[in-house]
Amino acid sequence: MELPHQKQRTFEPSAEAQAGANVAGMEAYRALAADAERDYAGFWGGLAREAIDWRKPFSKVLDESAAPFYTWFEDGELNASYNCLDRHVASGHGDRVAIVFEADDGTVTRVTYAQMLARVARFANALKRRGIKRGDRVVIYMPMSIEGIVAMQACARLGATHSVVFGGFSAKSLHERIVDVGAVALITADEQVRGGKTLPLKQIADEALAMGNCDVVRSVIVYRRTGGEVAWDTSRDAWMHEIVANESDICEPEWVGAEHPLFILYTSGSTGKPKGVQHSTGGYLLWAVQTMKWTFDWKREDVFWCTADIGWITGHTYIAYGPLALGATQVVFEGVPTYPDAGRFWKMIADHQVSLFYTAPTAIRSLTKAADADESVHPARYDLASLRIIGTVGEPINPEAWLWYRRHVGGERCPVVDTWWQTETGGHMIAPLPGATPTVPGSCTLPLPGIMAAVVDETGQSVPDGQGGILVVKRPWPSMVRTIWGDPERFKASYYPPELGGTLYLAGDGAVRDPETGYFTITGRIDDVLNVSGHRLGTMEIESALVAHELVAEAAVVGRPDATTGEAVVAFVTLKRARPEGEEAEQLAKTLRDWVGKEIGPIAKPKEIRFGDNLPKTRSGKIMRRLLRSLAKGDAIVQDTSTLENPEILDQLGRAV
Ligand code: WT7
Repeated sequence: MELPHQKQRTFEPSAEAQAGANVAGMEAYRALAADAERDYAGFWGGLAREAIDWRKPFSKVLDESAAPFYTWFEDGELNASYNCLDRHVASGHGDRVAIVFEADDGTVTRVTYAQMLARVARFANALKRRGIKRGDRVVIYMPMSIEGIVAMQACARLGATHSVVFGGFSAKSLHERIVDVGAVALITADEQVRGGKTLPLKQIADEALAMGNCDVVRSVIVYRRTGGEVAWDTSRDAWMHEIVANESDICEPEWVGAEHPLFILYTSGSTGKPKGVQHSTGGYLLWAVQTMKWTFDWKREDVFWCTADIGWITGHTYIAYGPLALGATQVVFEGVPTYPDAGRFWKMIADHQVSLFYTAPTAIRSLTKAADADESVHPARYDLASLRIIGTVGEPINPEAWLWYRRHVGGERCPVVDTWWQTETGGHMIAPLPGATPTVPGSCTLPLPGIMAAVVDETGQSVPDGQGGILVVKRPWPSMVRTIWGDPERFKASYYPPELGGTLYLAGDGAVRDPETGYFTITGRIDDVLNVSGHRLGTMEIESALVAHELVAEAAVVGRPDATTGEAVVAFVTLKRARPEGEEAEQLAKTLRDWVGKEIGPIAKPKEIRFGDNLPKTRSGKIMRRLLRSLAKGDAIVQDTSTLENPEILDQLGRAV
């Protein structure tokens, strides 16, 4: 990747972008950052009092005594759902539209804040009647829908901790998460509809629950999306619309401590087992609100649209919580960007007068390709004048895609905010402020005020600007991951490793800081995590899935750069029988791809599978992944292969099936 200082182009925020911005000009940014440096607790305490309605005020901002298990605003009490709904209705904004929902087929439904509050209260009462209470864990396996957000908010209202599982995950992945989190209830839908196709969520949920160790799941609540056929267990299953029918639309929120776990969201790490990232209530909500105001410069008149799924952190912070906590109007979309055609996003921006738009580089790249191929779906064909700020998230954005986005979607007028963050950070960490920060294609620019990001070497020492290193955060921040559910030791080892001194948060990404501007460019993961279309996948998880197949003896998975998906999964496999060739190899590759789809989910399917008699190993038996990465890319092998036990297999593995 090119470094920012190798580029000529810097885009200053326009006069319009600066005028009236929540943070206007670099002076204002620097003043905020300096406030945080000067009085860290005072800075965060001030923001927290402003952003959140506290039932009981906190007396202390940050407690570092059990570091790295930091706590924030610990004796303060609040309820996230109250902050997202009741307070807007109480202040006279009940008639404001909270959600403009567009279904896959284009049907539009609007819900006001008052209606949303009533729906959440009714559903929370129904959950309560089924015995769900504070501290219980509830798994949500739902399509993009108003009901999905209602389910999350209802859990928050009761102090139940939700764990949303992305609808694209398999029965096995869902099962693994239900068991790990110890869920007492599962909320799902009959089917999910995307791009005109249906996916049988309830059936997958039934399969997951039949896999054993799920006895604690007492209730399965089903949102009827399509009316498609489903199996039914009357002792356990209930329709969402039936159980809310006679419930009151008043439900007193359960006031919880600021550290109460609002949710647990599973993500991939460098081992085979996904990590349950546990988030707090107070610190998390503060940052959801604050980053909406800073990174998106949110104002009352804005129409916000984040295209993520509620199954990922982006959909938690920038759909289910952030916009609602501000009383914003947002668009929620059920479908995919390419259905009925690749102009869908642009049409929806025009139809709903979206002013703040937030999507992923992979979507931008695929829509660029589509627009090049078919002029009728080019953004130029749509009226995108309502747009004010456009953002990206999920993976490094290549400068070409960034420039296309700015030009054709942002009309050379809208600041592009490239936001670097992670499931673990809860919200944006390094991102431009649209009314202040000059932007450079491919750089997420500067840390937000209060975020102490730095680049260090393997021992935790700072590295000079312009030189690549490891991205760390030097001070705790309110919305950070609190622990890994049920595994505090793994939390410490993953994020505060002793090699770095135990006090630096290890993000798992490489980065370089520009010597002149201090701007950060993210160079990608430094661990065994891949990023495919903005989805985070552990190579070990895919390897474990492959070796679970009866024919597979050994597997190694690496990433290969891909023009559309960022990275693509390439798997090198040895079988328990002779190496297949020709048609047999093609057949087996397909079988194994489908197998991974079943084991983890379609997002994890390898793009390519290659078979060898063996894998390249050192004499001590270690798989040489660097070599495999070169082979996957089709690069000539320049690495030293003298320590390789079996150099002849490089030839086999270098060839596609
Ligand atoms: C990983 C986190 C952040 C919410 C969605 C993904 C990569 C994320 C950027 C960006 C370069 C990025 C990193 C990070 N990433 N945003 N703007 N530029 N890389 O959350 O699934 O937890 O993945 O996504 O590698 O560590 P996630």
